[in-house]
Amino acid sequence: MHSREILQKYLAFFQKQGHKQIPNLSLLPENDSTLLFVNSGMFPLVPYLSGEPHPLGKRLVNVQRSMRFEDLEEIGDNRHTTVFHMLGNWSLGDYFKNEQLEWAYQFFIEELGLDPNRLFASVFAGDQNAGKDSESIAIIKQIFAKYGIEAKENERIFCYGKEENWWQRGEAVGELGGPDSEIFYYLGEGSGVGKNPASNQNEFIEIGNNVFMQFRRTEKGWTELPQKNVDFGGGLERIAMVVQQKQDIFATDNFYPIIKKLEGLTKQKYDQDIDTTRAMRILADHLRAASMLAMDGVVPSNKDQGYCLRRFLRRMVRFGKNQLRLENISQTLFDSVIESIGWLYPELQKQKHEIISLFSEEESRFEKTLIKAYPKVKSIIEDKKNAKTLINDAAGTAKIGFDLYQSEGYPPELLYDEVKEAYPETSTTPEDYRVKIVSFFEKHQAVSRQGAEAKFKGGLADHSETVIQYHTATHLLHQALRQVLGTNIQQQGSNITNERLRFDFSYSQALTETEVEKIENLVSEKINQKLPVNFRIMEKAEAEKSGALHFFKQKYPDQVKVYYVGENLEQAFSKEFCGGPHVKNLSELKPIEIYKQEAVSKGVRRIYAKFV
Ligand code: ALA
Repeated sequence: MHSREILQKYLAFFQKQGHKQIPNLSLLPENDSTLLFVNSGMFPLVPYLSGEPHPLGKRLVNVQRSMRFEDLEEIGDNRHTTVFHMLGNWSLGDYFKNEQLEWAYQFFIEELGLDPNRLFASVFAGDQNAGKDSESIAIIKQIFAKYGIEAKENERIFCYGKEENWWQRGEAVGELGGPDSEIFYYLGEGSGVGKNPASNQNEFIEIGNNVFMQFRRTEKGWTELPQKNVDFGGGLERIAMVVQQKQDIFATDNFYPIIKKLEGLTKQKYDQDIDTTRAMRILADHLRAASMLAMDGVVPSNKDQGYCLRRFLRRMVRFGKNQLRLENISQTLFDSVIESIGWLYPELQKQKHEIISLFSEEESRFEKTLIKAYPKVKSIIEDKKNAKTLINDAAGTAKIGFDLYQSEGYPPELLYDEVKEAYPETSTTPEDYRVKIVSFFEKHQAVSRQGAEAKFKGGLADHSETVIQYHTATHLLHQALRQVLGTNIQQQGSNITNERLRFDFSYSQALTETEVEKIENLVSEKINQKLPVNFRIMEKAEAEKSGALHFFKQKYPDQVKVYYVGENLEQAFSKEFCGGPHVKNLSELKPIEIYKQEAVSKGVRRIYAKFV
């Protein structure tokens, strides 16, 4: 069964149970302060899981492209990928454990034809926040009984603590989380009954996670949400792996066209030896991830997402050149990326030439650095005098990495790959190395601390009061810009932290002092009027007609939520398609000051503002 069919069956199955489909959004989060990438399907749903009504109701389903950049170094095994597709269904305070577990197993067994004997479950063992999930155990036992299987604890159902069976998106105040129940598929020999999935990880693969999302993190710890939600996520590529009866995610239709092409180009078999297999997996993963980032508008740069894209391309060149003797990687492989995932993203075909030329330029530039620096890199790694440092000393390794960067322009993060290959026994973790590298850069002020740290972490969401206030202030600013500079102003991006808001918009010159003053005054005037903030859920066409601002390129569902500032929608000062959350009244805001402006690219201006 092709991944396309798995996806169709999933959507149809949950639509039959009253779920409405929501769009597969860009990998780049909109209005999120700290996460670099959308990392799960629940990402855009935080406000609704917290209690805001969703325009499409209480049952939602979709597939969402997701990126776990922090897994970068793990790529090369049979199951990790940086970009994956999460099948997701949600109950926003509607159904709960009974229905969810029932449907999830039914989908796997009856729709996809998985052998129930190969399915295993884990549930939360309990802690001070939530007790042992005996309810899920009882439900899962009943489900297996239907298929004639007696599912006993410690044989087919295992209880784990917070490490394994508690899901939360991040650590920040405002994050949501809850106990979860995972579904595993047994890949090994024999029945697998009695084998513990946590201690036999290679023999099992997790194919779905039922999160019972009932808690919110506050300064004081986890507190109950007003509603009990379900957040289910299952990796399409992993599900394809078991449905297609493979032992390797790269052997599924999601990657195999790229691997096959690599075999042809290199005249080497994919599973010939471990280094070749690993290099081919890295190339397939990185090119596919890079292509999706480019499709979502990222260009290589030294910051944030652009830096991640650059890192994918550089690693791809390094592994491609050193291990597989390949050049012009994206040019030769891009068609196979389209073959693997073009069915879901027709835009890849349309953007093919731009993406290839963007990547090729980056690749050839980096190839030159690599050719020039590589003899030195090799001699440093192979110098016996360095071995002790490279094996035990993260700070010493980082110093070598930083010096290499200073002298040769060789990216320090790639040195870690070299160290890992030459000294697999190294006790230096990528995290230790990064932390030390960041402090070297910081000392030399080559990048700001915040910028450097952001590169290396997945990041966190923040729905603190201040962030919500800045979110409303962003809407005011957007409208003020349009009134002062002209209604052809279009939002290009937005980013909010606890300290400030940042707003990108289409405009090709610097704002004058008078313009800045006018904009700030207009925002203050509205705040002084203490206007209320409300939303209305509407048909998309009707919402568009109302003049509510939205992104032209983004796909919206048929029903949308429009936030407006003012007594009513018709006469509102600002109206925008938006999920929220927002303050209830502008009296909760302080006036803003635009303290910095710059050009981001041709025709795009960026301003920073904070409350005074
Ligand atoms: N949000 C849950 C996960 O990512 C389903 O595992």
